[in-house]
Amino acid sequence: MAGSHNISRRDFVKLITGAVGAIIGAAIGLPAIDYLIDPALKAAGKDAWVPLGKLETFEIGKPTLATFTRSTVNGWEKTVNSYGVFVLRSSDTDTLILSNKCTHLGCHVNWNVDKQEYICPCHDAQFGINGEVLGGPPPRPLDRYTGDQVQVTDGKLLIYFRGG
Ligand code: FES
Repeated sequence: MAGSHNISRRDFVKLITGAVGAIIGAAIGLPAIDYLIDPALKAAGKDAWVPLGKLETFEIGKPTLATFTRSTVNGWEKTVNSYGVFVLRSSDTDTLILSNKCTHLGCHVNWNVDKQEYICPCHDAQFGINGEVLGGPPPRPLDRYTGDQVQVTDGKLLIYFRGG
């Protein structure tokens, strides 16, 4: 009887020791597992408001390129991408914002002052000052940021960028 009582006590001590070990293991191991898994679960790009600069610094009547970078995480790999938009203020209250990404295959267009056109260097496409296609293979005008994708806060111009 006494022997079985001793064995029970030993089993009880083993049980408590095992439970304490499991708790300590979880306390140490779970953050480590979270650290290892977290990057793989993160979204590969986040939508966000991107500041382009003070609105007043964009000259009226002149398309001006504003650039920014966004980083994406894919598993453990981080990639930093560059983007650009042309800001054209036609007055104190009217601003046109066009993506600089050609709608053909995505090359970056440049503003040509002499021709007053956006030119795509990849396949010689031309876009008008409002982004309309004037020539070349692009299937549609340059993409615009309009309406609720644009805001001015404290004098700063921001666009809602979809990083998806
Ligand atoms: S990518 Fe611009 S014309 Fe082809």
